[in-house]
Amino acid sequence: MKIKATILCENSVFHRPGALAEHGLSIFMETDHGNYLLDTGQGKTIINNALVLGIDLRTVRGMIMSHHHFDHTGGIAPVLNVTGSVDIYAHPDLFKESYKIGEKRPRYIGVPYTRALLEGMGAEFSFSREFRQIVPGLWLTGEVPRRTDYERGDENQTVKSEGVYLKDGLLDDQSVVVETDKGLLVILGCCHSGIINTLSYIVEKMGQRHLHAVIGGTHLGPVSDEQRDKSLDALRAFDIERIGVSHCTGLKTASRLAAAFGDRFFFCNVGTVVEA
Ligand SMILES: [Fe+2]
Ligand SMILES: [Fe+2]
Repeated sequence: MKIKATILCENSVFHRPGALAEHGLSIFMETDHGNYLLDTGQGKTIINNALVLGIDLRTVRGMIMSHHHFDHTGGIAPVLNVTGSVDIYAHPDLFKESYKIGEKRPRYIGVPYTRALLEGMGAEFSFSREFRQIVPGLWLTGEVPRRTDYERGDENQTVKSEGVYLKDGLLDDQSVVVETDKGLLVILGCCHSGIINTLSYIVEKMGQRHLHAVIGGTHLGPVSDEQRDKSLDALRAFDIERIGVSHCTGLKTASRLAAAFGDRFFFCNVGTVVEA
């Protein structure tokens, strides 16, 4: 199917008067089967940026949550204010109590609303751990099997269980895949599962090697040097036509990807449009 994906919220904005940046991600997807939103940012910029970019959030048929972190789910309530009743596709762990540790005191980084509040505003949750089709041609990976030994994620992201902070394996992290005439378009939220684990799983499940484009948050910024080096190396084995990075990639890692991919690399910031 055809898709037009517009970056609505992201850490940076270039040459878009009136648009705002925030640490977070949201991507508006116009498809043959309606308009969907992948993530919603922190909620501070999504309404403003939709107005600036000429995007009518009232047309959103469903929201997809890549994972539970506040910088992806904080905009759910402001968007529900606009859409009213709407489907929200997510992993069953969406409302887990998660904290970032290692700062002055543990900081809550989960969904900043209760499930009851969001349901009262019209959220119709659809939870699954499985690889599933949302509408024909638009897929959601569900839990991504962790197969590499170097994609270990972040030690300081934890879940609170009986008063103890345990490392959060972030099994709720998932990505979107769109089947287009040009090949697969992979849209990553934060990719805590690891970009190599994620792309390998998508190629296996979809039975297609050609990735027309991979866009979104790669999570190659905050990880260990070892994970970053090995992931960048392993990326070369994939048939990726274009790569457009956002959010948790970080400028340092983005510049390495730019060197590796040349003209096939681009930034996905607020206002960037990818059509396929
Ligand atoms: Fe994030
Ligand atoms: Fe995240």
